[in-house]
Amino acid sequence: MKLAIPKERMADEPRVAASPDTVKKLIALGFDVAVEAGAGAGAHISDAAFTEAGASIASSSADALKDADVVFGVRGLDDEQLGSVKKGAVLAAILNPYGDKARVQKYADAGIIAIAMEFMPRITRAQSMDVLSSQSNLAGYKSVLDAAAEFSRAMPMMMTAAGTIAPARVFVFGAGVAGLQAIATAKRLGAIVSATDVRRAAGEQIESLGGTFIMVESDDEDGETAAGYAKEMSEDYKRRQAELVSEHIKKQDIVITTALIPGRAAPVLITEDMVKSMKPGSIIVDLAVEQGGNCPLSKAGEIVEVHGVKIIGHRNMAGRLSVDASALYARNLLNFISPQIDEESKTLKLDWEDETVTGTALTRDGAIIHPALTGENA
Ligand code: NAI
Repeated sequence: MKLAIPKERMADEPRVAASPDTVKKLIALGFDVAVEAGAGAGAHISDAAFTEAGASIASSSADALKDADVVFGVRGLDDEQLGSVKKGAVLAAILNPYGDKARVQKYADAGIIAIAMEFMPRITRAQSMDVLSSQSNLAGYKSVLDAAAEFSRAMPMMMTAAGTIAPARVFVFGAGVAGLQAIATAKRLGAIVSATDVRRAAGEQIESLGGTFIMVESDDEDGETAAGYAKEMSEDYKRRQAELVSEHIKKQDIVITTALIPGRAAPVLITEDMVKSMKPGSIIVDLAVEQGGNCPLSKAGEIVEVHGVKIIGHRNMAGRLSVDASALYARNLLNFISPQIDEESKTLKLDWEDETVTGTALTRDGAIIHPALTGENA
């Protein structure tokens, strides 16, 4: 069995889908691992480190991909790379299926089994394969550090002989994986932290981290779906949320937004009027910027200053911690593929009864098969 790790081709993607640690484990599972030269450079993993772990180094993407049974990527493959992959091969990566359906069709046309790791079901058994969690956690942490770096004041309260510095006020929109880590990080830096979420269950988690839950009063509306994600809220709810937030936001120094609804554009939560109402020198970090943004003024890949407020719109926030992000992502992939290897024959046998496969497989036998892309939900 051959497993390929091509070098990422998307701009601003420093992560890599394997680490020396996972290469060793993949070899123990029965794979020959081929890593494209330079694939680990963005995560400070040298070709020599991969070789030492037992991988072979391929001089080109085509060489790495040739005859591979499994391809691990951070992002998907481009047209040229797809030309080098054999029919029936498995590609596991973050494939952005809602954002790039045309590419999913190309995977189908190439006859490969494309696995979208971000579709991993949120069941206990699959927690160790959950790339959204592993990457969002790092993104949430880094968002606070980025905000602190741009903020012209200190985060904690400081009592000095020359006077007292007030602690920064940090407000987090969306207390999922990224938001909770942002709350914890801001607390550790000494800020006064508050947060809001449409899921009532998030309230307890916010409070357990020492944050204040800013809750929109609603008699019957809970924003949590059976899958544990947020749903789109009613117009009435959105109006009440905006009213509540617009009062609160005026007093904040740093606002971190992480609110996402799977398969949809991110909800707009901070309007231009709200930005205007903030104090000069305040910071917004829009972690949802690649899904359209929680603030319409944020710009993907840029830090902009509007009405005296700096709005940070870094893409690929987890990639800004490329070493840790790669190590955890590589483990997610290893944990996904391990149960699919028949131990005795050391061959890959995808279990089409297993939710981790059926929940993530986008294409098979030349067709798009995932219900989120073919069925009523498409
Ligand atoms: P996400 O990245 O899809 O969204 C981020 C947060 O924004 C969520 O908490 C969501 O409720 C919130 N949000 C959406 N629209 C909003 C709005 N209009 N206003 C305010 N907040 C809004 O969510 P993430 O981080 O993937 O987590 C979703 C849930 O899944 C959480 O309950 C998390 O604890 C749970 N989870 C379960 C796992 C498992 O059981 N294996 C693994 C990871 C997370």
